[in-house]
Amino acid sequence: MSVVGKGEAMSGNRLVARAAAWVLGAFVALAGGAAQAADVALPHQAKDVHLGVASCAGSTCHGAVAPWRDSNVLQNEYTTWMAKDPHAKAYSVLLNDHSKRIAKNLGIPAAHEAKVCLDCHADNVAPAQRGAQFQLSDGVGCEACHGGGERWLGIHVSGKATHAQNVAAGLFPTEDPKHRANLCLGCHLGDETRAITHKIMGAGHPRLAFELDTFTSIQPAHYRVDDDYAKRKAVANGVKTWAIGQAIALSKFMDLVADPARNRDGIMPEFVLYDCQSCHTPLNNMTWQAQATQGIGPGVPRLHGANAAMLKVIAAAVAPGMQAELVERSRALHAASQRDKAEMERAAKALKQTADKLADSFAGRAFDGNDIRALMQALVAAGLQEGYADYASAEQTTMALSAVIDALKATGQVDPTRHRGMQQALEACYAAVKQDATYTPAAFTAALQQFQAAMPAF
Ligand code: HEC
Ligand code: HEC
Ligand code: HEC
Ligand code: HEC
Repeated sequence: MSVVGKGEAMSGNRLVARAAAWVLGAFVALAGGAAQAADVALPHQAKDVHLGVASCAGSTCHGAVAPWRDSNVLQNEYTTWMAKDPHAKAYSVLLNDHSKRIAKNLGIPAAHEAKVCLDCHADNVAPAQRGAQFQLSDGVGCEACHGGGERWLGIHVSGKATHAQNVAAGLFPTEDPKHRANLCLGCHLGDETRAITHKIMGAGHPRLAFELDTFTSIQPAHYRVDDDYAKRKAVANGVKTWAIGQAIALSKFMDLVADPARNRDGIMPEFVLYDCQSCHTPLNNMTWQAQATQGIGPGVPRLHGANAAMLKVIAAAVAPGMQAELVERSRALHAASQRDKAEMERAAKALKQTADKLADSFAGRAFDGNDIRALMQALVAAGLQEGYADYASAEQTTMALSAVIDALKATGQVDPTRHRGMQQALEACYAAVKQDATYTPAAFTAALQQFQAAMPAF
């Protein structure tokens, strides 16, 4: 069986490619008690007109060839996006052979004209919301993330509007990890309007895996987090971004599990919500193991569980009062998933509440050096203890550790030599999770032990 792997993207070069965007030494914590992620409309849900990438791309706007020295933003954002960002090619991949094959297998006449593909591979707002310069072929353009520019374009060009005023006029708050997670996961997991299904996977679509801090880092940065940035916007460090990303991922995943229109496909459960490896492993692997956040026996498909596994680790370190509820509700969901659909939907709604509470609690916390160190140790300990038979948990652990070691460096707790040593040791973890088809828990455990040996004794 050939589940399409993440290939190069999941290889060690993600580490190398983790950009130097988050260079700020001193981190400013975001204010607590912020609005729920879902309270701010996503760019494709808001009513504003999307003016098109061309309206941002002027050479005196965001289309400079090189960064400007005397501006607080780089001004060459368009050039970076166009030349390096995969989002600029999201539409054109729908024209390639890979997409043609997916479309043919699904019986879709043309991927680049199919709503199901365009909803994630372009800024597919309703025709009435497309301005004169809007082009679908721009793919995932500026306004797919920053919100339709109808109301904020004018005031932000004037240079006098504050960030809060721009946001009030429809600019999406991409700097806030909760809102950013909600935005990215809308396409990198799917949501109520954008559906990835097991049929689309079966037709050849790559598996979707997402971790907010890692993906933020590997998206070629068209912005610089420096002192000036911190004056204008709240800054969350990478570990905080990771933690909030996990909570929002679980919350949004529970929306899918709780939705009767999304959790089934005819008489079958919708397989895309389940751990791919619970079906797609060679028969002779013999790797099944119990997992604390699941509590179900062998020989049954299990709902995707990697975000809950990560949250168990995070809660133990920074929200111990909530860990028991998380584990209990997660186990209740898995048990219900084997028994009764209505009970599963109720359990998913309950677990979503826990995930939202965790997101709030993380948003109100700075994630200082002590937290970062505790989380590194907890990630390694949990990985060694659980032995992650579940590939996705091993993959998430690896991405989490890369967020952690970068945060250790950024907060000045390890010197560059030690950081390099840990980064090299982490390469072994990346190698162990490089291919889902050949993943084994034993190889991952060995890689984690190697990483553990490279960890400083704080
Ligand atoms: C829920 C959102 C979503 C939907 C629906 C969706 N895609 Fe994707 N697609 C993605 C994301 C996100 C990626 C990038 C995955 C990654 O690398 O992590 C991707 C990657 C791909 C790739 C690989 C791109 C590359 O650079 O190798 C192809 C091809 C593709 N999609 C085609 C399609 C086609 C054809 C359809 C419609 C049948 C479709 N997609 C529907 C979100 C989606
Ligand atoms: C996939 C999502 C995405 C796309 C597409 C995207 N951006 Fe961004 N952009 C971000 C994120 C995330 C940040 C960093 C957080 C922040 O400052 O809001 C950011 C930051 C920025 C900043 C703020 C820099 C600062 O110092 O405050 C500007 C300006 C910007 N983007 C312009 C653009 C332009 C122009 C385009 C299109 C050519 C574009 N972006 C496309 C996600 C995106
Ligand atoms: C409108 C849908 C959409 C949104 C919103 C979106 N993405 Fe994507 N993203 C895609 C698609 C589609 C691809 C695949 C493009 C391709 O391969 O050509 C992709 C690819 C990527 C990749 C490359 C993945 C790889 O395997 O190399 C990264 C990194 C990424 N996105 C990060 C982000 C981040 C961070 C955000 C939020 C700030 C975000 N994306 C928001 C649709 C989206
Ligand atoms: C409940 C079991 C189950 C789960 C869970 C599951 N699949 Fe499948 N998958 C199947 C079955 C059954 C087929 C059809 C096999 C066939 O046609 O021979 C299949 C086929 C596929 C294929 C096509 C393989 C081929 O040979 O062309 C891909 C790719 C795939 N699945 C990916 C995934 C991904 C990615 C996930 C996780 C998001 C996943 N599957 C989860 C049961 C499952």
